[in-house]
Amino acid sequence: MKFKPANNIQDLQYFGEFGGVNPSISDSSTYTFLSAKTMFDTFEGNADGCYLYSRHSSPSNLYLGEALAAMEGTETATVTASGMGAITPVLLQLCGNGDHIVSSRTIYGGTYAFLKNFTPRLGIDTSFVDITKLDVVEASITKNTKVIYCESVSNPLLEVADIKGLSALAKKHNLQLVVDNTFSPLSISPVKLGADVVIHSLTKFINGSSDTVGGVVCGTQELIDQLRNVNDGAAMLLGSTMDSLRAASVLKNLRTLHIRMQQHSHNAQFLAEKFENDNLKTVYPGLTSHPSHELFTSMMNEKYGFGGMMTIDVGSLDKANALMELMQDRNLGYLAVSLGFYKTLFSAPGSSTSSEISEEEQIEMGLSDGLIRFSIGLDADIERTYNTMKTCMKDLGIL
Ligand SMILES: Cc1ncc(COP(=O)(O)O)c(C=O)c1O
Repeated sequence: MKFKPANNIQDLQYFGEFGGVNPSISDSSTYTFLSAKTMFDTFEGNADGCYLYSRHSSPSNLYLGEALAAMEGTETATVTASGMGAITPVLLQLCGNGDHIVSSRTIYGGTYAFLKNFTPRLGIDTSFVDITKLDVVEASITKNTKVIYCESVSNPLLEVADIKGLSALAKKHNLQLVVDNTFSPLSISPVKLGADVVIHSLTKFINGSSDTVGGVVCGTQELIDQLRNVNDGAAMLLGSTMDSLRAASVLKNLRTLHIRMQQHSHNAQFLAEKFENDNLKTVYPGLTSHPSHELFTSMMNEKYGFGGMMTIDVGSLDKANALMELMQDRNLGYLAVSLGFYKTLFSAPGSSTSSEISEEEQIEMGLSDGLIRFSIGLDADIERTYNTMKTCMKDLGIL
């Protein structure tokens, strides 16, 4: 049977404390117990339905977590204060001193910096590889490897991971496959393709209003319990907890994700086809020229398209900067990092979100200076947007 993640979100039925159509918000950091014995049991983790302290869990956070678990088809999930607040505890929970990670080399700059500069201090080493080459991935696995890490669609180069292939490798070598699915919510369901853990930065498409940072780890009950364990759980002890008020607002935005993703994808597909036709170096997984177009097609759920992220290479950083400034002047969107907003956001990743990656490494992975990353907005009239963008490009001699 086909997996239909938006149906799983639609089917959630939560009643508020007073019969409200939204679950009540738990505006408390700590919780009372009628008996001391129940408090003890809750510390031990075996008193279902009881809350202890909001860094561990809170009703509002659990509602959001369960909704995201339903979306990804996992047993459960835990929400965090940011995407990095989800990524770092998972990796620290799964790996310790002497362990090794095989990671895609094209990942979000913050994740790259964490694995390259921070985890070696804790004795965790990472090999960065071309994740699209399964033989290279397998050759990098050592006896100490614990995790294969990738993004379903990578930031910023939009490389697509073969999740089934990577999962087969992970199973063969007894590793955990951890997938950051931030760029392709609803379109790709990594756990259905064999991933063990799925992470999102909720900051992006899922929340969709660029008013907060947030994250989630979706996985087995066992992993989520480990992360929340009061004695050695990385989420519990590092404390990257989401605030309950925020969890309630993200849950409300999640309900319209399917409509937004359809519009983001529709608009991005339209612009990518137009700009490719205009002979601009355009990368979008929905273009048949994308090296992983077939792979993405084989993995995707119906209806949500190839996502809202697209890149165009305009040749040099100067041209990229001039174009971004002009597009902002003409109200096409904002010169800003991040993604998933109702307006288009654009940035030059080489000098912004991926600046943690050295110049040499950027060249090696094909991240050129003139590359502009677009998070295409929800524009109601995308033809008008195209015409205005084209005029900007003509005015600067890019077209
Ligand atoms: C793919 C991806 N993963 C993770 C993150 C980190 O998320 P956050 O900024 O919410 O910590 C980002 C942020 O840009 C991202 O693009």
